[in-house]
Amino acid sequence: MIKYYMAEDTIDRKDIQKLIGWLKTNPRLTKGKLTLEFESKWRQWLGSKYSVFCNSGSSANLLMFYTLLLSGRVKNKKVVVPSVGWVTSIAPAIQFGFKPIMCEADPDTFGLDLNHLESILKKHHPSTVLLVQVLGVPHKMKEMMALKKKYGFILLEDACAAIGASYQGKKVGSFGDMGSFSFYFGHQMSTIEGGMVSTNDKNLQNILLMLRSHGWSKDLDNASHKSLVRKYKVDDFHTPFVFYEPGFNLRATDLNAFLGIGQMEKLNWIISRRQENHLRYKQHLAEKFYIQKPEKDSVICSIHFGMLAKDIQQRRTIVNALVKNGIETRIFSAGNLGLHPFWVTRYGKASFPVADRIHHCGLFLPNNPSLKLRDVDFISKVVLNAA
Ligand SMILES: Cc1ncc(COP(=O)(O)O)c(C=O)c1O
Repeated sequence: MIKYYMAEDTIDRKDIQKLIGWLKTNPRLTKGKLTLEFESKWRQWLGSKYSVFCNSGSSANLLMFYTLLLSGRVKNKKVVVPSVGWVTSIAPAIQFGFKPIMCEADPDTFGLDLNHLESILKKHHPSTVLLVQVLGVPHKMKEMMALKKKYGFILLEDACAAIGASYQGKKVGSFGDMGSFSFYFGHQMSTIEGGMVSTNDKNLQNILLMLRSHGWSKDLDNASHKSLVRKYKVDDFHTPFVFYEPGFNLRATDLNAFLGIGQMEKLNWIISRRQENHLRYKQHLAEKFYIQKPEKDSVICSIHFGMLAKDIQQRRTIVNALVKNGIETRIFSAGNLGLHPFWVTRYGKASFPVADRIHHCGLFLPNNPSLKLRDVDFISKVVLNAA
């Protein structure tokens, strides 16, 4: 019955045919040279110095947090986390014993509310701030970076659902000390499962690489690897299996990298199609509904179109109309994470006016590159008629 899905696979038939052709060459499948090629293409595209490919956006966040902890750069374990984002944006902070402080959502971009953030910075002096770039609408990065400079915090930037969005010509995910990306099905581009961490800091890059693979130094550049071997006086036979950190195995494979390289070849097309659909939704719906308002120098690249109904009752009416017309829908991201059991049972309810409104009145409409403008027109009409 569903005719308009929330997400469609960006790995299309042609990509599958190419994959089959590649598999027939009997290639190496585990992490190898294609992973290095994908990482290199990614960092060039993003404009950052280093990138580490891993097996999901959640793993990318996990790597960012533990890398930060091992880097010795955190002056305390307090971290500001967003109310609107994803559970695995926050989960590593809890898992690694940080003290998370939840921040209200900005009324325009739904990222961190800058006034609330500054009051937390003044009161608690957290070492770290985790920013989610919500749904491909870039946050107010001029103000964010000014706060970073003023208070000296480390910025972790979760751009998992914002690939291809940019602010004043700079791609999101390249503002923070580290940035994370997700290549899960339905995101801007897909490697089936997959994620990336990017940074400009060589030391962080080395720790990321070690943590991704058990804690060994095999993936480091020769000079970094050798300096560890010298420092710990490791003999030749032991060298490949010496563990410098208590690591994970969060590697992706060359099969995923093969798909990622193919996706990057059509990334500009994917981004422009998503933008086009987003802007068309905006034309139809912005007057009647509360939606994210980007800064004027921002380029949006959304994976779904998010909107807020007037109230819970109106959301129910709109959702019913969408379902009746074969249009898939869902809540806005995860709503307010401060209302979820994982948070409430540990820290108590975190209720904020904007985040709560997103929780109770927000919904998603489909956006993907294969959705046509006439589909967007139809879906918008269903929403407007229902309201
Ligand atoms: C903001 C954000 N961070 C992290 C993730 C997790 O990414 P993955 O599904 O690749 O683990 C998601 C997933 O949608 C997300 O929206």
